[in-house]
Amino acid sequence: MTTPQKLTYPLSPAIDPSAPANSQAGRTILITGGASGIGYEIAKSFLAASAAKVIITGRRVEKLKEAVASLNSSKPEKSTATVLWRQQDVSDLSSIAIFWKNLKSDNLEVDVLVLNATHTGQFGVSAGWKKVWECFEFNVLGSLRMSEEFVAQGPKKGKVSRHPQLPYPVREFS
Ligand SMILES: NC(=O)c1ccc[n+]([C@@H]2O[C@H](COP(=O)([O-])OP(=O)(O)OC[C@H]3O[C@@H](n4cnc5c(N)ncnc54)[C@H](OP(=O)(O)O)[C@@H]3O)[C@@H](O)[C@H]2O)c1
Repeated sequence: MTTPQKLTYPLSPAIDPSAPANSQAGRTILITGGASGIGYEIAKSFLAASAAKVIITGRRVEKLKEAVASLNSSKPEKSTATVLWRQQDVSDLSSIAIFWKNLKSDNLEVDVLVLNATHTGQFGVSAGWKKVWECFEFNVLGSLRMSEEFVAQGPKKGKVSRHPQLPYPVREFS
């Protein structure tokens, strides 16, 4: 039996968070499902790219608090970024509405939205329509409502652009 090996690859400059071209200085980043896994690593990368504020969301408050503490302790040495958590369920339309309303009353305006939390599972006929519909509501309707609220935000409302290297929309500063 062969021993598994850890493979490492050089980081492409196109996605290197420390590259000046990828700087997120001054921006507020919102990452759904940012308390663990891929979302947590995305949050770390935005902090390394000098984001001003990183907001992570999820359903479990304790998990969010733990992640904020851990992100704060792993921030780059000179970082002045603020890491915040908000409880939110992307599969629940009323939770989404309340979430954006509260962000606005907290004077938080999001510049970059990362829709990381998704519902994966069986999508075929054998899964049963209820399961498929549940996934559809989470992944399509939830993401659509999040995007609508993102675009409709307060005074900087307007243009949304897509950074060539980033798979999610970035709002432009006017
Ligand atoms: N890792 C993979 O290979 C892979 C492959 C394909 C797709 N994906 C998808 O990519 C996403 C990230 O993957 P991962 O491996 O990082 O998953 P993970 O470690 O399980 O993290 C998912 C995060 O999303 C949050 N979340 C789950 N349901 C949510 C909801 N309804 N509203 C808001 N937040 C929610 C979870 O927190 P709470 O439970 O506290 O809400 C958790 O922090 C997942 O949604 C997964 O389905 C992953």
